[in-house]
Amino acid sequence: METQLNYVSLVRDRHSTRSYELHPLTDADRKDIAQAIASAVPLTATSLLDWRLADKSIMGCSAVLYAECGSSADELIDYGYQGQQIVLALLAREWGTCWYYQVRLPGSPCSITVGRPATPGLRSAVVGALSRGHTRKTIEQVVPEGMLQDSAALVRTVLESARLAPSAMNRQPWTFKVISPNQIVVQGNTGRFPDLGICLANAMVTARQLAGAATVTRLDTGEYSVSWQDTRLRKD
Ligand SMILES: Cc1cc2nc3c(=O)[nH]c(=O)nc-3n(C[C@H](O)[C@H](O)[C@H](O)COP(=O)(O)O)c2cc1C
Repeated sequence: METQLNYVSLVRDRHSTRSYELHPLTDADRKDIAQAIASAVPLTATSLLDWRLADKSIMGCSAVLYAECGSSADELIDYGYQGQQIVLALLAREWGTCWYYQVRLPGSPCSITVGRPATPGLRSAVVGALSRGHTRKTIEQVVPEGMLQDSAALVRTVLESARLAPSAMNRQPWTFKVISPNQIVVQGNTGRFPDLGICLANAMVTARQLAGAATVTRLDTGEYSVSWQDTRLRKD
């Protein structure tokens, strides 16, 4: 059901929400959020992490989403991969979110604030400006080896979604290689942050939406392949 969401638009529209309406969660809200959580697919873990909602109000949010997770690079990447799919599914349900490393609930590397977005206040505007959250590296910077001459529109769209991924302090610690019209490689060293998984999630949901299916494979530490078969395009 979730694969029918317009992930390409969601990825482009998403930005961190740092101002929220005063909105205590109802049982219906909790069910809605649980559905967004259930829509995520894991990367390397065999099952979805045990995502929980803590009743905390950071920046005025309604709750904070987190899961217990180990601290190895692979575990952090899976945390980001699952968390970002949930963030996008929540946005489709009109929830605002912000990845937040300043609050680490027991056993979690960072958390995700969740709430109904409000008009940004001064604090939100200042933090947003300081993090330069609306800026991103150029496509030339993140694809240093350049495009293949015959790079299809689909590759470019997947790269664009990966480029727009949020990262801690907006460092964007990744580069991309175009391997073929059906495959890119994402490389990065994200240290103690789940950033690389977030980037992979953006690429995967975009390829899955446009091509019908996508596969993410670990090649090496900090190196992942995202590939797809563009069966839908060939039929058109
Ligand atoms: C893992 C991670 C941790 C983050 N931690 C914080 C944080 O502690 N405080 C904060 O205000 N923003 C935090 N952010 C939000 C980033 O600053 C933001 O995603 C980035 O600047 C890009 O802006 P955008 O999300 O509005 O596109 C975090 C983002 C990520 C991915």
